[in-house]
Amino acid sequence: MNLATNFFDYPLENCLMNASGVHCMEVSQLEELAASMAATYVTKTATMAPRLGNPEPRYRDLPQGSINSMGLPNHGLPYYLAYLEKAAEKEPQQLIFCSLVGMTTSEIFAELKMVQESSFNGFTELNLSCPNVPGKPQVAYDFALTDKILAEAFTFFKKPLGIKLPPYFDLAHFDEMAEILNRYPIKYVNCINSIGNGLVVDLATEAAVIKPKGGFGGLGGAMVKATALANVRAFRERLRPDIAVIGTGGVTSGADVFEHLLCGASLVQVGTQLHQEGPAVFQRLLTELAAIMKEKGYQSIAEFQGKLQTL
Ligand SMILES: Cc1cc2nc3c(=O)[nH]c(=O)nc-3n(C[C@H](O)[C@H](O)[C@H](O)COP(=O)(O)O)c2cc1C
Repeated sequence: MNLATNFFDYPLENCLMNASGVHCMEVSQLEELAASMAATYVTKTATMAPRLGNPEPRYRDLPQGSINSMGLPNHGLPYYLAYLEKAAEKEPQQLIFCSLVGMTTSEIFAELKMVQESSFNGFTELNLSCPNVPGKPQVAYDFALTDKILAEAFTFFKKPLGIKLPPYFDLAHFDEMAEILNRYPIKYVNCINSIGNGLVVDLATEAAVIKPKGGFGGLGGAMVKATALANVRAFRERLRPDIAVIGTGGVTSGADVFEHLLCGASLVQVGTQLHQEGPAVFQRLLTELAAIMKEKGYQSIAEFQGKLQTL
């Protein structure tokens, strides 16, 4: 069974990677990802300066996934860039992604300039979709602001750039966002970030299960898969063919990976399930994916990628 694929010019052993924010905050975790069966990986979404994030408890496993309001705890962009530059020195052909976010547009531009001036030449993932910072709306729900940020960013940013998007729930919004993205030289979109601002209640204690924002937090895991697949499919149908879609959301099994690929994903990320199971999850998912492909008579991912049938 051949699980190999390509992401632009990078040949990859398979299509799996972590989702930003999970198992990628510390250098030791990044090294574990590098040593795992994931084909590539992304660093924790970084702000320019280190952040402690929101008060605990800020993450809870649920029967159908997770709720979190981490609030972007991270060591600051220089920490991750130093790691990425060193990794590229050791293995120049290796593909790694650097995720970043700004609390203001000027912070975003300062970070992109720092990446531009660094020796890191991998993919940068601009996170326009974090739902968990009190007082900061998800940028990509503001279409005009997203347009403005991209217009400015591409005046000076010349390295490969992808955008992490929040989930959309209306076909008109898919149309509108795709029309904006198609006007810029972006390399990929990543669908989806957590479904923002769910509320999980503990029946016994009659309380919310996480502390920040009165219990409101981003949802991930099995319960978000249908929304994730819809976003992957909707953007695959609307974006220029040279813009890739990375599928994220609700992956707990090889069947979920297969469905993301079928809907048009080029790579598939694992968040909540990686949090729950650790990096061994990648081997299990690949074994399950290979078994499904064998049963269906597929020898390679290219044979079914993007080929969802409709009735
Ligand atoms: C604990 C936790 C932290 C996260 N932190 C980030 C982050 O820093 N940046 C980001 O783009 N997404 C972050 N996310 C969202 C995930 O990358 C992913 O988009 C989302 O959880 C859906 O995938 P899943 O269903 O596999 O969990 C985080 C998710 C979790 C559970």
